[in-house]
Amino acid sequence: MTTSSKTRKRVLSGMRPTGKLHLGNYVGALQNWVGMQDQYECYFCVVDWHALTTDYADTSKVKENSLEVVFDWLAAGLDPERSVLFLQSHVPAHAELHLLLSMITPLGWLERVPTYKEQRDNIKDKDLGTYGFLGYPLLQAADILVYKGDVVPVGEDQAAHIELTREIARRFNGFYGKVFPEPQTLLTPAAKLPGTDGRKMSKSYGNTIQMADPEPVIRQKLKTMVTDPARVRRSDPGNPDVCPVGDLHKIFSTKETMAKVNEGCRSAGIGCIECKGWAADALVQLLAPMQERRRKFEENPRLAWDILEAGTERARKTTGETMTDVRAAMGMSLEYEAPGK
Ligand code: TRP
Ligand code: SF4
Repeated sequence: MTTSSKTRKRVLSGMRPTGKLHLGNYVGALQNWVGMQDQYECYFCVVDWHALTTDYADTSKVKENSLEVVFDWLAAGLDPERSVLFLQSHVPAHAELHLLLSMITPLGWLERVPTYKEQRDNIKDKDLGTYGFLGYPLLQAADILVYKGDVVPVGEDQAAHIELTREIARRFNGFYGKVFPEPQTLLTPAAKLPGTDGRKMSKSYGNTIQMADPEPVIRQKLKTMVTDPARVRRSDPGNPDVCPVGDLHKIFSTKETMAKVNEGCRSAGIGCIECKGWAADALVQLLAPMQERRRKFEENPRLAWDILEAGTERARKTTGETMTDVRAAMGMSLEYEAPGK
């Protein structure tokens, strides 16, 4: 961390420990985080407690999945010299602030969060009628406020949670005096990243291309990827704008390749196999240096865990400072005061 950190705005963001990350995680968050490291003082959190809000019954993979996420973070270029990378469950102040905020949070605010109803309706294989699941956007608010985060880079789906965080900050500041800044949402430009079946790339659909996939796997996944359904025969012209492979090109290919795809597809001058080969080339080129960096940590996982531990220590220090302010604002510091004053 450079010494100018005081003058820079502070960024806080988090990612669930889902195991090996995929390209959707990369373009939807990680790539953006990597680019923020020079401009901001960055805190990036593996939110392992959040994993428990839905997957509380089996915790056996949480730790391993956390390590996998850190491998991919480091591979992508998150830099522990510039950013604090840490594990939520070992920074107790997240839980302490969550508790205090729970006292001032009207139930209606949580019940109104759009993801709450959606996920309760959609996820049928788990009982999400728990206290922890209802409260998870508040835990997220605590994650942010306990760092006095100024800026929170998230996708559109998280915007309501940051809005809730601002409302909570305002309510706290109104009761006890100004402690928290109202964090600003920095929306990650939503790249439309399809998975191999054409639906949104998502681990739960089993349609992902992982950042750590070796070249032959990437090429194989591309081969079976769905294309413009109107292009049945090689001689049929197609349209990259309605083709998932076309979407990949738009995100990962050069202008020159994109021009060849547009022209060749629409005129049936190229075949889908060739076109997919170019998309695979672009992915391999992007991922190769990351996989090279990842290898170093895979061979010596202790290195990655040490980075996480050191970051967690720093996070504890920063959050300790915030909690001192919080307790003082609430008149609950441990400092002795004579009774009856
Ligand atoms: N809820 C976020 C998600 O599901 C993850 C998250 C937890 C987060 N705490 C955060 C994101 C704090 C930004 C800031 O993606
Ligand atoms: Fe899609 Fe490329 Fe085939 Fe066109 S040529 S349909 S963009 S895979």
